Amino acid sequence: MSLEATLIPGDGIGPEIVAATTQALAALGAPFVWDVQHAGISGIAAHGSPLPNETLDSIRRTKLALKGPLTTPVGGGFKSVNVALRQEFNLFANIRPARSLMPGGRFENIDIVLVRENLEGFYAALEHYIPVADDPQAIAMSAGFNSRAECRRIITYAFDYALANGRRRVTIVHKANILKILTGLFLQVGRDVAQEYAGRVEMDERIVDACAMQLVMNPWQFDVIVTTNLFGDILSDLLAGLVGGLGLAPGANIGENAAIFEAVHGSAPDIAGQGVANPLAVIGAAAMMLDHTGYPDLAARFRESVRLTLCVDYIRTRDLGGTATTEEFTKALLRRIEA
Ligand code: NAI
Ligand code: MG
Repeated sequence: MSLEATLIPGDGIGPEIVAATTQALAALGAPFVWDVQHAGISGIAAHGSPLPNETLDSIRRTKLALKGPLTTPVGGGFKSVNVALRQEFNLFANIRPARSLMPGGRFENIDIVLVRENLEGFYAALEHYIPVADDPQAIAMSAGFNSRAECRRIITYAFDYALANGRRRVTIVHKANILKILTGLFLQVGRDVAQEYAGRVEMDERIVDACAMQLVMNPWQFDVIVTTNLFGDILSDLLAGLVGGLGLAPGANIGENAAIFEAVHGSAPDIAGQGVANPLAVIGAAAMMLDHTGYPDLAARFRESVRLTLCVDYIRTRDLGGTATTEEFTKALLRRIEA
């Protein structure tokens, strides 16, 4: 069996960690045949656009992609390509699991899955300035929106995910005490959807700021979390911090007709080109891609090889307190996969 998929190496550390991942997938005997395409800064270099038509056409055809992080200019510059890809392919669900992979970390036995609404909220980026007197940028405005239909779709996805994966509880995270309409709708739809799952999946609700504190004080109380776009972005980095950092945190962007798998982290310009990046977030995303495409046995073997490399061989990259380079880690992982 072979399965064509788009591969976007990405910017910064992207090419280093994506190469590590494709080597490991090949050793595993994964079915993916890659159509390599560019986006972000490397899209500009290759085709003069951060999101070239060639890349879009490839994903339209394969409906499946693994992508490295893409650099987005802060403040001005082009719009986030990550956000544009999610919108173009209607990838409404962003699934970001956080699991402890190694003993001895700050927290052990963490196993939380964050389901983030991926299309609406403040990420719609309906932003503008309002001039006052001689200041053209006197007031900065942003309009966020949440639609009832999208709230229903993402919250239903979270409850179905809980059912399919044997999870007990879904926590709805909101700020409906202040953003009474914007996130009040999310909470209201959440309460409705929860009733449809009564007796099968428990429902719980938290205000986002309190949730952030509780995630640090007692993360074990959480199981599946579902929340709006901005809160999900922030809480998923927090979750990554609970289990050893961004170098370990994978994510999947899922739509009805396409899916894009990626790390939670960005292009890490501070360590790009040094050969020291941790490839495990993209590797974790590739394992999710194997699950998604119907290869759970390969995904399980992949994760077990990672566990043996980290916890039995003690080969770890710098961000995890080790000394291994990306290449040394990848070689050690390949030995475990091929054993
Ligand atoms: P970042 O996630 O790239 O880096 C934050 C910190 O974590 C840095 O110190 C970095 O060295 C470290 N780090 C990240 N991944 C690592 C890994 N695999 N191994 C070891 N250390 C790692 O966040 P930052 O610096 O805020 O953003 C850099 C660029 O990435 C920006 O242009 C941003 O817009 C973009 N970005 C792209 C994302 C995507 O493609 N989905 C997601 C987040 C940010
Ligand atoms: Mg983020």
